[in-house]
Amino acid sequence: MRRCAIVTGVSAGLGEALAGQLLARGYDVLGVGRRRSPRLAGTRFAFVHADLARVDALEQALVPAFTTLAACSPDFACLINNAATVGGVGLLGTLGGAGIAADLDVNLAAPVIAADCFCRIFADPGCERRIVNVSSGAAQSPIAGAALYSIAKAGLEMLTRALAAEQGGGRLRAVTLRPGVIDTPMQEAMRGQPVERLPGVAMFRDFHASGRLVAPAGVATKVVVRLVEGEIDNGRTYAYAEL
Ligand SMILES: NC(=O)c1ccc[n+]([C@@H]2O[C@H](COP(=O)([O-])OP(=O)(O)OC[C@H]3O[C@@H](n4cnc5c(N)ncnc54)[C@H](OP(=O)(O)O)[C@@H]3O)[C@@H](O)[C@H]2O)c1
Repeated sequence: MRRCAIVTGVSAGLGEALAGQLLARGYDVLGVGRRRSPRLAGTRFAFVHADLARVDALEQALVPAFTTLAACSPDFACLINNAATVGGVGLLGTLGGAGIAADLDVNLAAPVIAADCFCRIFADPGCERRIVNVSSGAAQSPIAGAALYSIAKAGLEMLTRALAAEQGGGRLRAVTLRPGVIDTPMQEAMRGQPVERLPGVAMFRDFHASGRLVAPAGVATKVVVRLVEGEIDNGRTYAYAEL
């Protein structure tokens, strides 16, 4: 059985751990992002350079790489929309149009484009296909200073539901993951924010101080076993505790 996976944002954090876990389990893995990880290598790993903030050029970057992977006629193909940024932290009223657009491009437009390319290129009904959209509890509960992140994640969760509605639950299914609190550069960036930009910063400092952050490798293993390889309900949101 030939299995392949596409993971966005594989230079660090959860994406790097997911790609590593998938390689270890025998998948062909395509990483998408601005930077590679020295830990991801070998003949089954390919990387396509793409800045997800450059949505005008994204399709052009993804199509050849997706087409090459699909041409191997995999029995199973999975897209994990993992990459995200918290670059646009700050209160509404201070953000500015360019920063707002760039943040929403990375966190929302880019995953929609990746899903659109995936549905079009991995069109073989003989191939079982999945899309895992990595969201956050912030999609449901706003955090003062992180409005753009919450707005994008809420939209990403609707992408999952739209895919489930459109694709009819046949051999292409989609789920949302809210992965809990993970010990990654993103958490470090959040707890390092000044309180004026991120009034909710105390929560992130407490995650770290109280030892609540989970190692990315452990989360990645659960995600692969439960959401990539296990039985899933099409269109559903899965919290870390359910994995
Ligand atoms: N960590 C947590 O506690 C937590 C909690 C809830 C949800 N999540 C979600 O889990 C996912 C992974 O988060 P993480 O904590 O692992 O984040 P992270 O450590 O910040 O890693 C983010 C990844 O996204 C990539 N990325 C960011 N901007 C990009 C751009 N413009 N173009 C291409 N790639 C870009 C980064 O690559 P570069 O090297 O190019 O920057 C990096 O590989 C995200 O969707 C996040 O929202 C995380």
